[in-house]
Amino acid sequence: MTVRLVPTIDALRAELDLARATGRRIGFVPTMGYLHDGHASLMRAARADNDLVVASIFVNPLQFGANEDLSSYPRDLERDTEISAEAGVDLIFNPSVDEMYPFGPVLSSVSVPALSNQWEGATRPTHFAGMATVVTKLFWIVGACRAYFGEKDFQQLAIIRRFVADLSIPVDVVGCPIVRADDGLALSSRNSYLSESERVAASVLNRALRAGAALIEDGESSPTVVMEAMAGVVGEEPLATLDYAALVDPATLEVPERIPATCRLLIAAQVGRPRLLDNLGVNAPGGAP
Ligand code: PAJ
Repeated sequence: MTVRLVPTIDALRAELDLARATGRRIGFVPTMGYLHDGHASLMRAARADNDLVVASIFVNPLQFGANEDLSSYPRDLERDTEISAEAGVDLIFNPSVDEMYPFGPVLSSVSVPALSNQWEGATRPTHFAGMATVVTKLFWIVGACRAYFGEKDFQQLAIIRRFVADLSIPVDVVGCPIVRADDGLALSSRNSYLSESERVAASVLNRALRAGAALIEDGESSPTVVMEAMAGVVGEEPLATLDYAALVDPATLEVPERIPATCRLLIAAQVGRPRLLDNLGVNAPGGAP
């Protein structure tokens, strides 16, 4: 497979308009690069469902806070190109910051405060508006398509689904399962920041989620009990500092009073330099299949 780099908005639009005019279905995978098998799984899903697959690689300054890792965010375009080609991508849109934001700081923005102020948004107050703004911009550039996102960033996916529906954006959002390492750690570009011992400790997030899920499957009905159990598992790992361990309604991201038929467990913890995220969907006994 060959993959072509397209660094400008005009060139990408021209190519995709032509493809659509000849009836080709477009699959789109937005990323910030430093690709791993989680990203590749989205690309393979896009390849299977569509005639032309475009991925974007753009480290979006808008979604990084002042003290975050924008300048040190890992990058490797050569390797990303190989991984994309292997996963069946046809075009990589890799614009510069000037190409995306030619007028400097944006004066317009997309935000979904009701889904953005809690969990990740509590410690990263500008993150989701920056993410929603760039994803909206990417959707305008790519045009009508199916767009593939990982459940790994569950809150991000919920926000994207909501603004796409609220603003009638002609994009079908497809959520894809989390790809994990053998010990359960969700793959993430930021895992590259972990030392060897931190990498071992990092599997505690997934163990905590599984402990929470086991309680629900055994009939526990109190969200608080499940959330405390997850926090307890992380508390036993000295290299991890818990940010939150929550049981939420998957649509509203709010903690319900009692455990519903289908819920989502969310967890975030600092392990060494990176904050790591994970989540798990769970059905209560007798709940949704
Ligand atoms: P990035 O962190 O590069 O992730 C790009 C996509 O890959 C997201 O949809 C994310 O959920 C998915 N992904 C990451 N790790 C995954 C894993 N282990 N399994 C499955 N999918 C995984 O998310 C972003 O970039 C940005 O916020 C972006 C949407 C591109 C906007 O800038």
